[in-house]
Amino acid sequence: MLFKKKKLTSEDLKKIPKSFDVIGGILIFTDFPKELKSKEKLVGNYLLNKFKNIITVTKKTKKYSGKLRTAKLKIIAGEKNKETIHAESGIKLKVNPEKVYFSPRSGTERLRIAKLVKKGEDILVMFSGIAPFPLVISKHSNANEIYAIELNKQGHKYAKENIKLNKIKNIVAIQGDVRKKIPNKKFDRIIMPLPKDAENYLSLALKNLKPTGTIHLYTFEKQENFNKLKEKYKKYNIKLIKAGTPAPRKYRVCLDLSLK
Ligand SMILES: C[S@@+](CC[C@H](N)C(=O)[O-])C[C@H]1O[C@@H](n2cnc3c(N)ncnc32)[C@H](O)[C@@H]1O
Repeated sequence: MLFKKKKLTSEDLKKIPKSFDVIGGILIFTDFPKELKSKEKLVGNYLLNKFKNIITVTKKTKKYSGKLRTAKLKIIAGEKNKETIHAESGIKLKVNPEKVYFSPRSGTERLRIAKLVKKGEDILVMFSGIAPFPLVISKHSNANEIYAIELNKQGHKYAKENIKLNKIKNIVAIQGDVRKKIPNKKFDRIIMPLPKDAENYLSLALKNLKPTGTIHLYTFEKQENFNKLKEKYKKYNIKLIKAGTPAPRKYRVCLDLSLK
């Protein structure tokens, strides 16, 4: 029997999702179409050819989940290596996106926060991952000290490497649970980038905030519930910022909160 060599047809090309993430040299599909499963290697090779900066093409086989918010990636074409260096706002971030959470989509939001920072601020970044918030803030502000606390040991390892890689001197990276690891001091600004759960840590953040300080609390919310959310936090000065759309009709929201 003669086997036909598989090829991508023009119909197949139309089915390749236009939306994907690129972390350094790794392209990541979140929803790879089932109809293209038997041709995924061809799709991967097609994209390697089309985008010269891509070294590895992957698809998510498990979405962000669990306490550490990690995903599973299957390599469908290119180099069999999941470690890469991502460039963002003038800093370099080494990461294996399967071992620790990192989303390039939050880059604009990180820079927004960095630009709010005033000279001499002491900052705490809870849930800091590979340290993108601390590094972007350090690079684009005159903050005093920036503490970065991350539970995931692999995430912490990359955070320390990234601090060295960028020759940054004012970040203190700590591995562990924020419930146990916050240093005994008060901060001008506390960043809480764990949208699924950050609200449960708000009282802890408030204990460590200077009376003049600001908290950036991330959560997920639908637009129709924005007013309810503002109502919930009405005892604070509150600014609601749309900081991404992780799913249709759902926003990643940042609440900039300060004491009245
Ligand atoms: C959504 S990720 C954000 C990572 C990083 N800030 C970024 O923007 O790329 C949340 C991170 O919080 C960490 N985490 C979850 N619970 C934690 C806790 N109790 N203490 C410290 N880190 C925690 C997870 O391991 C994960 O890396």
